[in-house]
Amino acid sequence: MTRNVRIGLLGCGNVGGGLVTLLGERREQIRERHGIDLEISSVLVRNGEKKRRGVDPEIITTRAADVFASDPDIVVELIGGVEDAARFVGAAIDSRRSVVTANKALLAAQGSEVFARAKRHGVRVGFEASVCGGVPVIRTLRVGLAGDCVESLTGILNGTCNYILTLMEEGQSFEDALAKAQELGFAEAEPSLDVDGHDALQKLTILSAIAFGGVPAGEVQLSGIRGVTLRDVRRALREGRVIRHVASSRIDDGVLRLSVRLELLAAGDPLAAVRYENNALVVRARAAGELTFLGRGAGALPTASAVLADIIDIAQAA
Ligand code: HSE
Repeated sequence: MTRNVRIGLLGCGNVGGGLVTLLGERREQIRERHGIDLEISSVLVRNGEKKRRGVDPEIITTRAADVFASDPDIVVELIGGVEDAARFVGAAIDSRRSVVTANKALLAAQGSEVFARAKRHGVRVGFEASVCGGVPVIRTLRVGLAGDCVESLTGILNGTCNYILTLMEEGQSFEDALAKAQELGFAEAEPSLDVDGHDALQKLTILSAIAFGGVPAGEVQLSGIRGVTLRDVRRALREGRVIRHVASSRIDDGVLRLSVRLELLAAGDPLAAVRYENNALVVRARAAGELTFLGRGAGALPTASAVLADIIDIAQAA
């Protein structure tokens, strides 16, 4: 028997558009494989005049209230930012609807409140898409390593910074590389979140809360990639090394230390081989040892893949 599951979509930008495309391609197969028919009931957009490929104009609205009035089973929040997103996510949870979000800024700032609220109301919050785009690192840490003890996390968590550093290795300027990352939909609406390291720190905060939950917070080191010049990149390459923007966390003296900064890596380092918008995460766990995850960390379809996986997971469990 097939069950209809209605999705209220808040935001139809880069990732929201990717979700519409992916769902259009996969809906039939999901119906056959999982017995659920995923239907978008309403879509909140900023500009109601703009045509959206694959979306029935009848379900497009500029009022969030219309999305809630369309009686969705799951609310998917893809508008980004903190304030409006927090209000909509809160409203969805209070109306006993599970939420799927890609919003790392919201979860890094208010994750514990959001999860506590969801628990009180007996609903779920899926957030796989908030870290590492299409690479399922959150599920891996929460489920796959639930029986282990994570000792450290080290990774490349911002696709835009890695894309810029890779293009600089190919001789392009910082400005041109950033413009390309924006054109390809990797960068945040406010790209200083990427290049100054805030986005990577938000993602590291989310991963660390799962891996080391409850450990008191210690020192946080944060720097971005703005100061890197073509000369720096070339000098590193001549010396057989590469510059990467590396995020890491570990427990030291009983406190959690987070760091997001530039590092000069030897060519043989697993993170040195991570290029373009790819992300990577190296997890060191006491029993499982060292695990490495690698894949597309930014972009419409990889991120939509993680959003859709959460939707299917929540819809199946309902
Ligand atoms: N701006 C982010 C990045 C998008 O470049 O990694 C994916 O979270």
